[in-house]
Amino acid sequence: MNDKLWAGRFSQSTDAAVNDYNSSISFDYRLFREDIRGSRAHAAMLASQGLIDADDAAAIDQGLAEIAADLESGKLQFNPAAEDIHMFVEAELTKRIGEAGKRLHTGRSRNDQVALDLRLYLRSEGRLLRTGFLRLHQALLEIAANHLETLMPGYTHLQRAQPITLAHHLSAYLQMLQRDVGRLDDCLERMDEMPLGSGALAGTTYPLDREYVAKALGFSRITSNSLDGVADRDFAIELLSCLAIFMMHVSRLCEEVILWSSQEFNFIELDDAFSTGSSIMPQKKNPDVAELTRGKTGRVYGDLISLLVVMKGLPLAYNKDMQEDKEAVFDAIDTVNLCLPALTGMLKTMKVNREAMREAAAGGYTNATDLADYLVGKGMPFRDAHEVSGKLVRHALKTGRALEELTLDEMAGFSGLITADVYTAIDLAACVSRRDLPGGPAPDAVAAALEESRNWAERAL
Ligand code: ARG
Repeated sequence: MNDKLWAGRFSQSTDAAVNDYNSSISFDYRLFREDIRGSRAHAAMLASQGLIDADDAAAIDQGLAEIAADLESGKLQFNPAAEDIHMFVEAELTKRIGEAGKRLHTGRSRNDQVALDLRLYLRSEGRLLRTGFLRLHQALLEIAANHLETLMPGYTHLQRAQPITLAHHLSAYLQMLQRDVGRLDDCLERMDEMPLGSGALAGTTYPLDREYVAKALGFSRITSNSLDGVADRDFAIELLSCLAIFMMHVSRLCEEVILWSSQEFNFIELDDAFSTGSSIMPQKKNPDVAELTRGKTGRVYGDLISLLVVMKGLPLAYNKDMQEDKEAVFDAIDTVNLCLPALTGMLKTMKVNREAMREAAAGGYTNATDLADYLVGKGMPFRDAHEVSGKLVRHALKTGRALEELTLDEMAGFSGLITADVYTAIDLAACVSRRDLPGGPAPDAVAAALEESRNWAERAL
């Protein structure tokens, strides 16, 4: 016998292989809170519209509340034989309260039900992720504030390019994180639509009050097209895109942490509590947290691509392919949730080796542009100044010295325009301080940028 809630038109029961294949409860059990919340709002609305009577509504509400409590406490176990979380909750309800339970699904389909549940779930997870992003932002902001004058080389092509400060470097990531939060907010705003009332795809003949349900569940609006309400998953894809972009950003930061903590760079030292050792090489201290973050970025991209590919060929409206949305979404959210505290802790506890950073900035001819600019200030065209500075670099390289270690006579030999004031012009700290346009590395400019980030964070809370 077929004991499915939809068994009416079937004369044979489902093959065991199909049962397992079709079932989603092994992963969508995670939607139980949202499913029950949505059902309680739906039942209350049915009663307020006179579609079920008050006693049935009360029994449904209480039954659902008890199921939720029993699932939370572990008293009730998910039944792996149930097709999905929606069927499981409904069957359990009917088991507990009888007839009334069978009235819950009036004017509703699992198609709009799952569209609702997923939105509710992503809305609350999205808010938690946002808090995690803000914590990371706060941690970076605090480090940056301590390093307004910590000189380091800025790189292009991973070659030392121009002197900057660690604060300036980290402030770049603050900007990225601020956009990541903005993207999440935009995504949550667009997701803020209540799909119940879409039915299977063509709405319903019952006089449901969709606005009532929207309000009860804290949505700003209802969806505007019943097919769209059940057929699209762009809200999930958008959240995954936000997470993919966020992971791309932190993966780059982690790549820098990995480089910087190497003996070759020696810019930072990671705390023992956020590093790991080697089973064979006793001297090793590995930046596993940073590496895993870089590695798991690929996973999150994969989740995004999976869902994009699932959706791209589907005719409207609902198709069972869409059941594949959930594992991708859960995996991406779990991954980012695992990453955030480890990453934030690793950054908060790392030690910065100011001296090594300064030496790297001093050793890389990062002031060669400033030497050219100095000559421009004395009237030389920039192209010629570039060449003179380049020749001086070559000369200094030959004798293993920095530009500022050359004697005035040596320098003057390359251009008569060079006089004693050249040394202040190419002093590293001065090179940085003079780059004081808004957005530049000068300590004052970075302090202003950090202040803006601080204000942004206050508003974002
Ligand atoms: N478990 C299904 C899913 O996640 C719920 C919707 C099922 N709808 C249906 N018509 N079979 O997509």
